[in-house]
Amino acid sequence: MQTILFGTNNAHKLEEIRAMVLPGFHVLGLSDLGISLDVDETDSTLEGNALLKARGYAEASGMPCFADDTGLEVAALNGEPGVYSARWAGPACSYQDNVDKMLREMEGKTDRRAVFRTVIAWVDGQQEPRFFEGRVEGIIIPEARGQGGFGYDPVFLPEEHSLTFAEMPAAEKHNISHRGRAVRAFVEFLASQPA
Ligand code: IMP
Repeated sequence: MQTILFGTNNAHKLEEIRAMVLPGFHVLGLSDLGISLDVDETDSTLEGNALLKARGYAEASGMPCFADDTGLEVAALNGEPGVYSARWAGPACSYQDNVDKMLREMEGKTDRRAVFRTVIAWVDGQQEPRFFEGRVEGIIIPEARGQGGFGYDPVFLPEEHSLTFAEMPAAEKHNISHRGRAVRAFVEFLASQPA
């Protein structure tokens, strides 16, 4: 059994990944180790922030560690909110504030294309850091739809689907989502590593 650390305090993400990681890997979260350090996400890219977190928590724990960073990139907004997705509407904003801002900024725009991107960085203390990306393309719809999910889910309609991320069952979202895809790429990599 190999024990690895997921550099997150988000219990929901930890659950998600535990459901996917293969037998043979035991995934701990920061709270399992009593680590209260909060690595600042000061980089201007998803890759850079994922790496800052993976490195910071690997150093703090002395364990192999992975961390993720996600952003929603909207074509008509020159790729915004991107790396600033979490606090786009202000320092203490809610998911609803971000959704409201998105609807306002996209009012009257004909190009509605958007992409969700997740980057996972993996630091094992031996090899160079590795990166795994998952993305899903779609459009920003003009009115919020659905109660499920979180964040920008009610306004994101994935390509070739008729339900927003907030309208679909969680398992269906996970199957096609940016995070689901990045996690699967990472899990495949782990499975291919010698024990
Ligand atoms: P994080 O890097 O995973 O914490 O994501 C940063 C921000 O992107 C979150 O605070 C959300 O606003 C948004 N976000 C990330 N993943 C999703 C998702 O699956 N659906 C909708 N919004 C998301």
